Amino acid sequence: MAHTSRPVVVLFSLASLLPLASGCSGDDGGSGASATTGDPATTTTDDPASSTGAEATGTTATGGSETEGTTTEAGEPAVVYYRDVKPILDAACVSCHRAGDIAPFALENYGEASMWGELLVPEIEARTMPPWGASSECNTYRYDPSLSDEEIATVKEWVALGTPEGDPADEPPPVDDALPPIEYDVELTTALYEPTVYPDEYRCFLIDWPIVEQRYITGFTIEPGERSIVHHVIAYVIPPAEIDTYTALDDADPKPGYECYGGPGGEAVPRAQWLGAWAPGIPGGPLPEGTGIHVEPGSKVALQVHYHPVEGADPDLSVVKLRTEAMVERPAYLLPFANPLWMLGIVNMTIPAGAKDVQHTFEVDIPATIDFLYPNADFGLDEPVEVSMAGLHMHELGTSGTLKVNRDGGGEQCLVNVPRWDFNWQGIYRLEESVIVDPSDTIHLECFFDNSDGESSVAWGDGTEDEMCLGMFYVSAL
Ligand code: HEC
Repeated sequence: MAHTSRPVVVLFSLASLLPLASGCSGDDGGSGASATTGDPATTTTDDPASSTGAEATGTTATGGSETEGTTTEAGEPAVVYYRDVKPILDAACVSCHRAGDIAPFALENYGEASMWGELLVPEIEARTMPPWGASSECNTYRYDPSLSDEEIATVKEWVALGTPEGDPADEPPPVDDALPPIEYDVELTTALYEPTVYPDEYRCFLIDWPIVEQRYITGFTIEPGERSIVHHVIAYVIPPAEIDTYTALDDADPKPGYECYGGPGGEAVPRAQWLGAWAPGIPGGPLPEGTGIHVEPGSKVALQVHYHPVEGADPDLSVVKLRTEAMVERPAYLLPFANPLWMLGIVNMTIPAGAKDVQHTFEVDIPATIDFLYPNADFGLDEPVEVSMAGLHMHELGTSGTLKVNRDGGGEQCLVNVPRWDFNWQGIYRLEESVIVDPSDTIHLECFFDNSDGESSVAWGDGTEDEMCLGMFYVSAL
């Protein structure tokens, strides 16, 4: 539809739930004093020596009996907020748990952290917070925000001690792990949209790709407009030859954009080309050095936004920012991969009603996938490629999944394993060390589903009632 400025957003990547958090929360170090006085649990002074004992016994549910053994010489508890706990929450939680953001409560200052203290422990022990799907037993990932065992123990002990505050002056300086700023040159904007379907609405915005020359995307980020309702965004490139299907969907829906769920919504779904996926807490940023995703002039970008409407939220207008370059050393694709026969309905990916632990697997080689999705591919057909990110995509019956390389000569290498699939927190994980895959190796995809509560059998499709089992990887020329 209109040219340049329809909305859109793109996004990508996946991975990093944490970094910018320390930057933002650093600011409220200064407000420590006011947080202290406003805190219901600790209205005492901040003299650590005199307040500790009283606080520990006064506010802890587990009793003050351990206080003796866990205090330092000065009488301060072994674990206090400012020195020990705030750095952990700032780095791993505050990017979402802050005013106006997607999490239901903030953890930005002492008052908030101590008020919610008891509630934090079960989530961090179960490793459900911070949200991060990829198992570290499969591979290691850049930006993995997961807490270490020591960090978990620290928060736990702090709660057991009654959430002692400590001295704001002891707060360590924030770790400076912010990524260097990126110069974005393309901005795509979604339409101003107010979701009305509870609890979830999936909307695609079709946006014109504004550049008239061949271009590579080398980095991007998304800035959600109304952070409290934007749950995730997936960006797809729609090449010129396939635009009509999508324009028809857009035209048929009177509101901005059109409804879509597991993909950009057109019949061409089996070939949807992913640009990236974003979920809260991910700062976005550059794609792996020297690589970029090609976008043809005349393309469109379909931005699928998963809204999770909440009362009182403003309409959303999200912006995707991209850095583009005319050339890259190593062109790359973000390749979705699944059994084409499932996608085309020739083989049914059936998940029978009432069945638990239904497994679907598929094995393919990368050249075949590239050939299917990009008939004019300029790399990857008979040469090794480098895989630097990997992810999975299922809908709501998905329970777990794995993507791994089976080596031609025997042996295997795990790329990503998501032991507890959660549709709300899907992402594409950036491998700490990229993996070289030879044309003779195969990629093995495995998805598990649970339809034990379902009354009808489910199969492949892009509706909420359908399922998918997709592997996803970012491959570049060597
Ligand atoms: C990427 C965003 C994000 C990060 C990072 C994050 N949370 Fe959350 N958290 C949420 C959202 C959203 C919810 C609401 C429940 C949901 O949607 O899963 C939530 C809910 C919670 C809950 C309530 C759980 C419940 O079921 O009621 C606790 C406790 C919690 N988070 C603690 C933490 C702690 C502690 C950290 C850091 C160690 C953290 N979260 C990091 C987004 C985040």
